[in-house]
Amino acid sequence: MINRKINIAVIGLGQVGNYLLNELNTKKKDIEIKTGKKIHIVGISAKNKNKKRRFKINKSIFFKNPLEIIKSKKVDVLFEVIGQSDGISKKIVETALKNKIHVVTPNKALISKHGDYLSNLAEKNKVNLEFEASVAGGIPILRTIKEGLATNKLNKVYGILNGTCNYILSEMEKTKQNFSIVLNKAQSLGYAEPGNPKLDLNGYDAFAKIRILSSLAFNKKISKKKSLMEGIENIDYKDIEIASQLNFRIKLLGITEIINGKLFERVHPALVKKDTYIGNVNGVMNAVIVEGKPIGESVLQGEGAGPGATSSALMSDLLSILRGNIKYPFGLPGIKRKKPICYNERNSSNSLYLRLEVKDKPGVLSEITKLLANNRISIQRVIQIPDNKKRSASIIIITHKAVEHRSQNLIKSLKKNNNVIKKPVLVRLF
Ligand SMILES: NC(=O)c1ccc[n+]([C@@H]2O[C@H](COP(=O)([O-])OP(=O)(O)OC[C@H]3O[C@@H](n4cnc5c(N)ncnc54)[C@H](OP(=O)(O)O)[C@@H]3O)[C@@H](O)[C@H]2O)c1
Repeated sequence: MINRKINIAVIGLGQVGNYLLNELNTKKKDIEIKTGKKIHIVGISAKNKNKKRRFKINKSIFFKNPLEIIKSKKVDVLFEVIGQSDGISKKIVETALKNKIHVVTPNKALISKHGDYLSNLAEKNKVNLEFEASVAGGIPILRTIKEGLATNKLNKVYGILNGTCNYILSEMEKTKQNFSIVLNKAQSLGYAEPGNPKLDLNGYDAFAKIRILSSLAFNKKISKKKSLMEGIENIDYKDIEIASQLNFRIKLLGITEIINGKLFERVHPALVKKDTYIGNVNGVMNAVIVEGKPIGESVLQGEGAGPGATSSALMSDLLSILRGNIKYPFGLPGIKRKKPICYNERNSSNSLYLRLEVKDKPGVLSEITKLLANNRISIQRVIQIPDNKKRSASIIIITHKAVEHRSQNLIKSLKKNNNVIKKPVLVRLF
């Protein structure tokens, strides 16, 4: 990019887009000093021109149809900040890249689904596609992997990738309140989407981020396999309390690793020891831990969401483009990125935390231990908490390592058992 004057378009003026626009407007001088380039915002777009926004917008450059900006203006860098995995988001990014316009986006849904296709398009047209903000908000994890750790051989990346879930789990522990009450609080504070927070809570959001991380860390195409994905909707305060008594905390983890040359990606709640690093990342914080050679273990922690943190990452992408120092969206030419061979998650093994609500009568515990034995799962610890009023009991079992397909069989047979009165809770130990 040789021009000194850079034309910019911002598509989407919601929580992130509107904040970003204000950053661009107020930091023009700073950008010029650092890159030698003068930015000029030539077009903005959102659904509703007259909506009240946090920061004032210049309506004279507002376009109802974002594609019109590309047609009628000379754009050098386009920010896609709408957020759909397909539809207008994909269309605008595709059109921009084909027109040799650099693209910056925080859209993990789009990149985890179409990242390979779009990065090929960027390569072909010799422009950048940058998506630092799509994983862990303000934490510069993608650039760290792409640049700072460029020649390391990474074998595992894991962490807390969803601030909404981490806030809910931490707040449940702090306030001793149940999931639904804390979810309402998270929604009123803006930490969880008011309408449909499902994609945060069921692990989908963290899984999209894991897919992007795997691809960068292991130099592979984005995996299409639907692997182990569980959310936090079934975690009760009771589980958090019992875990705490056993010196654990429950965290929603995203984990990607290479096992015998195969890629294993997963997102699920996990019991982590209270005295570990990850066990002490609380509230809306995100943290990512990278393991590899020769770096060893490297940790990054910070705000994983919110317009400020997200805009920080978007601005860093812009400066990278203006400095002309990033070549391939995934760190190496697309042709060198092979399809991953995926590990069969049914063969993985974990120690388990099981909570069973059962009828309080003789013989029930021995019936349950028999089911565990049938599935070759051995017990490390059992705790029984009777509820005399309800004539029921909670049985908590910590197991030794159990193979996943046997754990799933066990859950199936427990669900069928007449003495088990509620859906069993299973949380893997990490
Ligand atoms: N919010 C966060 O903390 C956060 C963190 C990390 C990443 N992200 C990512 O950032 C992106 C945006 O998130 P957000 O929270 O800012 O979303 P948002 O508040 O819902 O904003 C979406 C914006 O897109 C606009 N829009 C919708 N359809 C459009 C169309 N056809 N043409 C033009 N504009 C259209 C909306 O217009 P109106 O305003 O007129 O309705 C709105 O301004 C998503 O990819 C999200 O995953 C967000």
